[in-house]
Amino acid sequence: MTTTYQHWKVANDSDGISWLHLDKANASANVLSEAIIMELETIVAGLNKSPPKGVILLSDKSSGFIAGADVKEFTSYTDEATALAAVRRAHRIFNTLNALPCPTVAMISGFCLGGGMELALACQYRVADDSPKTRLGLPEVRLGIHPGFGGTVRSIQAIGVFAAMDLMLTGRTVDARTAKRLGLIQHAVPLRHLRTAARSMVMTAPPHKALKWWKTLPSHPWLRPQVAKLLRKKVAARAPQDHYPAPYALIDLWLQYFDDPTLMLDQEAQSITHLIVGSTAQNLVRVFLLQEQLKSLGRSDDYNPRHVHVIGAGVMGGDIAAWCALRGFTVTLQDQKNAALANVIKRAHGLYKKIIKDRLLVTAAMDRLIPDPKGNGIKRADVVIEAIFEDPEVKRTLFKTIEPLMKPDAIMATNTSSIPLDEISSVLTRPQRLVGLHFFNPVSKMPLVEIVQSTKTDKTVAQQAAAFTKRIDRLPLPVASKPGFLVNRILMPYLMEAVVLAEQGIPLAAIDHAALNFGMPMGPIELADTVGLDICLHVAENLSQHLGGEVPERLRSMVKAGHLGRKSGQGFYEFKKDTAIKPAIPAGYSAPSDTENRLIFRMLNEAVACLRDGVVEQADMADAGIIFGTGFAPFRGGPLHYIHQVGVKEMLHTLEQLQQRYGERFTPDAGWSTLK
Ligand code: NAI
Repeated sequence: MTTTYQHWKVANDSDGISWLHLDKANASANVLSEAIIMELETIVAGLNKSPPKGVILLSDKSSGFIAGADVKEFTSYTDEATALAAVRRAHRIFNTLNALPCPTVAMISGFCLGGGMELALACQYRVADDSPKTRLGLPEVRLGIHPGFGGTVRSIQAIGVFAAMDLMLTGRTVDARTAKRLGLIQHAVPLRHLRTAARSMVMTAPPHKALKWWKTLPSHPWLRPQVAKLLRKKVAARAPQDHYPAPYALIDLWLQYFDDPTLMLDQEAQSITHLIVGSTAQNLVRVFLLQEQLKSLGRSDDYNPRHVHVIGAGVMGGDIAAWCALRGFTVTLQDQKNAALANVIKRAHGLYKKIIKDRLLVTAAMDRLIPDPKGNGIKRADVVIEAIFEDPEVKRTLFKTIEPLMKPDAIMATNTSSIPLDEISSVLTRPQRLVGLHFFNPVSKMPLVEIVQSTKTDKTVAQQAAAFTKRIDRLPLPVASKPGFLVNRILMPYLMEAVVLAEQGIPLAAIDHAALNFGMPMGPIELADTVGLDICLHVAENLSQHLGGEVPERLRSMVKAGHLGRKSGQGFYEFKKDTAIKPAIPAGYSAPSDTENRLIFRMLNEAVACLRDGVVEQADMADAGIIFGTGFAPFRGGPLHYIHQVGVKEMLHTLEQLQQRYGERFTPDAGWSTLK
């Protein structure tokens, strides 16, 4: 007999097993929305009343088991009481499922994350398909929360505190074999055996193996405080408590309540609801949704590029080519110097070995990356990306030569970081074909690609460029071809203010510290050294030509002296083994109290300017670009969102004070008057 709900289907087979199929209506993936949980409540209540021989939970989606809770619903929780009621209801249902008097099995294939993993943990057994697409984990911390459907208690009970905390505090996911080794699931089997494995768990209901003593020991009340201290220390190195409260709350939950699972469950519900309505979680969820929005800009069903041709095998071209080959494209790479091509092949091999575990796949990726000194690939390529010297004349000469050779429908892209597209496309027969694909360095780590459009760029070409970007697993951000586009335009005033602070004698480490304190992932001094001071100078000079402002003398003199930062071993900092040696801040020194504001407000003011200037179409796109392009403190939700959260009036007032103190460079942009 089969009962069909909107999202669930319950099919009872001839052995008396109830198969609970989840297939979220009108969605490509399963997420635990409130509606799904409410239906589950009815189903579980029925099973509790007349228990079957066993229960097997599975997904009917090809994309996976369950991706987590419905993140969009998080943003609707504005008060703790409503959130708490929703969480408590889920707890009741999961507890009932957990206590059913028959074997319960989660049958997992594909992703099983967050709330999905918690649902699986509420079953007595878990079996998973051992293919690489199966990923299990509790990554809630990435959204500023911790597991809230019983997962904190059940994961620690299942695999011990160290393994469970490792999953919950880092948010990392594991494959089925690792999950089996940890004890998170009972069996990892090939997909074709998955049903049999699930059925056999019901039929045999094997006893659970007790956790090894050395896995339970760290949870002993005597040891817990020490272990908690260690865990906190590890977390603090990555995420300060003021900015990211969730991991600390999680450690406290375990420390205080692990002896009493019922109480710990109750406290888990309270803790997560407190976190969910807090600004860190709300902003991190916002960042997640912005990321989805960027991805959706690259959606396209009927565009299927296969071959990429990259011209220029330097820092950027080489990495772009290697990345595209890694993502499955056939890539031809052209450079006027053979040595540059050889260098890229070596670099690519290093990158692939780091990212791909399987040696055969490394070889396959290497095979796709083809040195092409003569540029034979141009004729066949669907996407041609230019990454040669940043010189308009050199670029014009190149594009003029390649335009007639290219397929008529191929994308013609430049990775220029500062030259307006119209200056390049003036020599083209069809200037509407030129689009910017502005990658960031290092390509393998920076998720954003600016899709630069001039007024001439054809909309279809820009759309295809965005689709291509998504295809190589990067986030496309449409920007107008204006000086510095979005990311460099925002970053430069911030970096230049850091140089001015350095000129004024503020210790370098104190400048970096101020930015870290705000929540930036790296201080501006170290960032400038990492980007390369020559590149910073070039971009700063270019921007000051177009937008005004001064380039600090210290930057010029350092570049003149060959102190280029990380790549030359000496910049503001000295670099040893690629690590910045930061002189300690002198004892007793404290930086002027407005140091942080000087850095951050230069960025905020420029973000307002970019919006006013139409560099991006909406504030959300500016926020997304700045977060993914610069690492801007994600828990603040983006610069424009942050301005609104604190209050436009108050922020403007602070900026005006800085203007009075430090002059013109802090003049509020005209765009402030339109912010409400
Ligand atoms: P690079 O100097 O490392 O590499 C340029 C390469 O192009 C060299 O190997 C050179 O031999 C080759 N080349 C020059 N003219 C050529 C031609 N006519 N035909 C074939 N090959 C030619 O330069 P980099 O840093 O990779 O920059 C390339 C482009 O990417 C520039 O437009 C730059 O503004 C942009 N960019 C640079 C970033 C960076 O951090 N370095 C970041 C984002 C964009």
